[in-house]
Amino acid sequence: PSLPLVIAVDGPAASGKGTIASRLAQVYGLPFLDTGLLYRAVGMGVLSAGADLSDEAAAEGVARALDADGLSDDPRLTTGEAGEAASRVAGYPGVRAALLELQQAFASQPGGAVLDGRDIGTVIAPNAPAKLFVTATPQVRARRRWKQLHDRGDAITYEAMLADIQRRDERDAGRGAAPMVQAPDAVLLDTTEMDIETAFDAARRIVEAARARYSL
Ligand code: CDP
Ligand code: CDP
Repeated sequence: PSLPLVIAVDGPAASGKGTIASRLAQVYGLPFLDTGLLYRAVGMGVLSAGADLSDEAAAEGVARALDADGLSDDPRLTTGEAGEAASRVAGYPGVRAALLELQQAFASQPGGAVLDGRDIGTVIAPNAPAKLFVTATPQVRARRRWKQLHDRGDAITYEAMLADIQRRDERDAGRGAAPMVQAPDAVLLDTTEMDIETAFDAARRIVEAARARYSL
């Protein structure tokens, strides 16, 4: 039979990649993995253990022992603190290596899968037939994430949010281990001027073009 439909969705914070990826999974009836949650769980695990985020060995130990089940139900993992902690531990090669097998197994399911993160199209599933790199200006992304956090009672200011986003972009794109970069064969989706419906429609057309190209 044909290749499994694997959809790799990468991009910076609050670009809309998670919303787009989970809706694509729904539409195509595929399992979905938010790989950012793995790094968020490792970062928060280090802090809960009373260790410092600069402690690479501690982070690697948490990553090796990680139980990936139920992470999407943990509200602590969606906080700004967890995003920042995730980005700190995500730079450690040992942490990335510990999480690699789990992600590759998920991406290799016979029926296909959708994964979102930073290195899905480059490292986790380089042969994925459909790859998207979702982005938007830092200002628009900071506004979106600010609204999300504000709506749940977080008092962070827009200016602080923008600084957080820019710091995280720089760290994620600048690290040596699996930096955030658009794969050469990924399609760029700039959602700066798009609402989520428009962005999702555009993403779906990109996936449909990949399906046609590979007869999937
Ligand atoms: O939703 P948001 O983009 O804010 O964050 P996320 O996707 O949950 O990722 C949190 C952090 O984990 C990122 O800033 C990256 O440092 C790291 N990450 C990564 O390095 N590789 C991935 N595949 C996914 C996340
Ligand atoms: O996963 P990622 O961090 O890239 O972003 P997300 O959690 O999917 O989206 C962040 C927020 O921006 C959500 O509240 C989305 O509904 C919103 N969003 C938007 O308003 N317009 C878009 N084109 C994309 C996302």
